[in-house]
Amino acid sequence: MAGIRIENLVVGYGTEPVISSLSLEIADGTLFTLLGPSGCGKTTLLRTIAGFVPVRAGKLAFGNRDVTHRPAYLRDIGMVFQDYALFPDKSVYDNVAYGLRARRVDETAIKTTVSEYLERVGLSAFAQRLPAALSGGQRQRVALARALAIKPTVLLMDEPLSNLDAKLRVQVRETIADLQREVGITTVLVTHDQEEALALSDRIGLLRMGRLEQVGTPEDLYARPVSAYVADFVGAANILPVEVAVPTISGASAQVRLDGMSLEVLAPTGLPAGAAILVARGETLSLGAASGATTNAIRCTVRRRQYLGGRTSFRVATDAGRDIVVEAHGAAPTFAVGDKVSLRFDPVRTLVVAS
Ligand SMILES: Nc1ncnc2c1ncn2[C@@H]1O[C@H](COP(=O)(O)OP(=O)(O)OP(=O)(O)O)[C@@H](O)[C@H]1O
Ligand SMILES: [Mg+2]
Repeated sequence: MAGIRIENLVVGYGTEPVISSLSLEIADGTLFTLLGPSGCGKTTLLRTIAGFVPVRAGKLAFGNRDVTHRPAYLRDIGMVFQDYALFPDKSVYDNVAYGLRARRVDETAIKTTVSEYLERVGLSAFAQRLPAALSGGQRQRVALARALAIKPTVLLMDEPLSNLDAKLRVQVRETIADLQREVGITTVLVTHDQEEALALSDRIGLLRMGRLEQVGTPEDLYARPVSAYVADFVGAANILPVEVAVPTISGASAQVRLDGMSLEVLAPTGLPAGAAILVARGETLSLGAASGATTNAIRCTVRRRQYLGGRTSFRVATDAGRDIVVEAHGAAPTFAVGDKVSLRFDPVRTLVVAS
């Protein structure tokens, strides 16, 4: 097994590159997710790692093996696709055995390996079935067993859960997470589902038009987004235009003006004075009585209150008419629609980023 190293990669189909000078390191044995909206280049990057799309410039290595121009069949990869891509006329057993037979492994060893991987994905009892007689979740488990049975250097998965309904998606997601950890294989997963990315990944790379906007742990992207684009794509956030009075210092607190009120927030990166974006997750905001403390707070009016079981969601409006969503977990404040409240910003968990 090995990590993946990508240096200044350029990939494209026509004249315009789809991936432009992308560099990335994926540590050995980790699960890395490529996340991003439709058309940003996730599949293109994955297929380039697999060897199905040629590299125009830059370097690609698995461990210390340069594979930049190596054909796909010599890269030693396991691949799982959105549409399973099983052989319809072969049994579950023969599907999983396929890659081993192509490698001329002897039948006794094949039997041991196929049994092992069918056991791992919980499908030992289905060895003789044809794919048509399986559910979507079961088919994707066969595809996973088939990809892993050849003991590849890296496992590549393109939207493996997107054809499954919500409940199955969570189940197969758990299978992928457990298996990846047990086998310890370097894995690259492509998804546009931010919850899936947060739940599964050691690290996530968020792509924006062929460039990596941010690479980090799920916590980094959720709690420390470097831009409004990241904050908006990963989880829900209030994204508000503000003014920075004095240039900010990376990692230090900063003063911003929101609707004429001064607030203390955190600046993850240095920013010049002027227009910027404030990012506040609903659960980092709190509501208090309008007559209460006013430090780092602005006056608002409650516009909507929704009880959602584990949490209560409030929509409040500033005096300037800006809507802000506040999520109260556990015992919610008793404010009702029309009440004047004081909305407090957490100085450490509210961020100011470039606009
Ligand atoms: N075979 C191809 N020939 C020409 N252009 C392509 C080809 N495949 C993809 N593209 C273009 O490259 C860009 C990136 O496509 P890609 O399939 O990598 O996006 P994606 O992030 O996987 O999107 P999705 O979430 O919709 O699957 C798009 O503009 C797409 O139209
Ligand atoms: Mg795609």
